[in-house]
Amino acid sequence: MGKNLELLQGIHKLEYEERMKRIQDFCDLTDEDLQVLSGEKRIPVSTAENFIENVVGFFPLPMGVANYVNIDGKDILVPMAVEETSIIAAVSATAKWVRQNGTLRTFVRGNLIIGQIQIPNIRNRERTIEILRDRREELIAISNGMIPGLVKRGGGVKDIVFRRLDHNDGSMAPRNQMLVLHVLCDPCDAMGANLINQVCEGLKPFVEAWTDEKVGMCILSNLVDGKIFAAEVRINDVDPKVGFGIEEATRFAKADPYRAATHNKGVLNGIDPILIATGNDWRAVEAGIHAYAARSGRYHPITDWKMDGPDLVGTLEAPMCVGIVGGVTRLHPTAVVAMKMMKIQSSNELARICAAVGLIQNLGALRALSTVGIVEGHMKLHASNIAIAVGAEAHEIEQVREQLILVLQKERSISFSRARDVLEEIRGRRTLDSALY
Ligand code: COA
Repeated sequence: MGKNLELLQGIHKLEYEERMKRIQDFCDLTDEDLQVLSGEKRIPVSTAENFIENVVGFFPLPMGVANYVNIDGKDILVPMAVEETSIIAAVSATAKWVRQNGTLRTFVRGNLIIGQIQIPNIRNRERTIEILRDRREELIAISNGMIPGLVKRGGGVKDIVFRRLDHNDGSMAPRNQMLVLHVLCDPCDAMGANLINQVCEGLKPFVEAWTDEKVGMCILSNLVDGKIFAAEVRINDVDPKVGFGIEEATRFAKADPYRAATHNKGVLNGIDPILIATGNDWRAVEAGIHAYAARSGRYHPITDWKMDGPDLVGTLEAPMCVGIVGGVTRLHPTAVVAMKMMKIQSSNELARICAAVGLIQNLGALRALSTVGIVEGHMKLHASNIAIAVGAEAHEIEQVREQLILVLQKERSISFSRARDVLEEIRGRRTLDSALY
């Protein structure tokens, strides 16, 4: 029998060493993997110098795991690198709810990323399109000649389409017509940014020579709407008060971009930490998701929640361009361990997990918002950070945290000044105690 995620029940209550023993066993990690996770085995500066420029050091982020996540019937322990309290607890708690009462499924629509070749101030747009359309197969063949390894794996450039854009923006540009070629490429397991940029730049001299027009920019688009991932949650027999509350929360986000921005930020609370943990370009995914959310001309939520009879059904749809090869995904030791923890074999699997966890995180936040409010769960877990921020020392943190939770329950909020009072009170009590004995 396979290992079931329920084996990891209550891991948040365990000491670090005991938690790691269970996770090592569950994910088949080596002792070296654990050293990477704990930070004992660090990236050498010499390696970091290859990642970025002018290296001065590191910025460690904690990485935790969300448990109970079951996607398409498969248990996945999800590593998440993030600085914000309560995200991981919320994903775990919500995944537990879904696991016990419903299903979480994912879908993939398309596999093509987009590279743009722009011809600004075009002189004869229709003639240019005609020339390039006639040589479309040639353009595709030249492209694929630049990326033979990808073609061998079944990927490569599959199509080229033409977009007519006009800009009547009052600028001094000599003409107001533009043509943009979209080079559509299947990047297999790579995110594909570097390879599509190279293909577009490689095509530029051919396009210019054949059309006698001047190419402007050659660059990928992060609005990857040819590679959409969807997730669907169904929870059976939901308390109607909770279910309709969540449905109403979605209607608010649909009606108001101010709310939609925060709604989608909640979804990204689930997605970004996985992208960071796996060494992926989270800015690219964020940009794509926000652009997709605004594709109608108005910013919308990327998830939708509705009651369906007694069940609550939620869906997410978003472009998700991620990789498991290329970039630093195979160079960053923590990213390698994170992939191993999820037993990921393809970039699609990783994108499915991101979509599913984004939807789950959104559900967790909406459930809290439409019932007890977000403050209680979030601040309960944030209390130790506040204790540290007001100067509590290691041996005082737990006591301050417990007191702050009592304050939260009584007064419904915690402030820094209230936390300072609590700390002073504890210290005062301790001084009095030691004076008495
Ligand atoms: N650390 C890690 N996981 C935790 C946790 C913690 N401190 N507290 C709860 N969990 C997870 C565990 O998986 C737990 O199951 P387990 O004990 O079998 O392992 C599961 O949640 C349920 O625990 P429970 O104590 O019943 O949680 P709860 O119902 O009191 O919920 C929150 C606590 C924080 C999860 C909930 O209030 C919440 O989801 N709030 C919304 C927070 C949010 O959306 N934050 C986003 C940023 S604002």
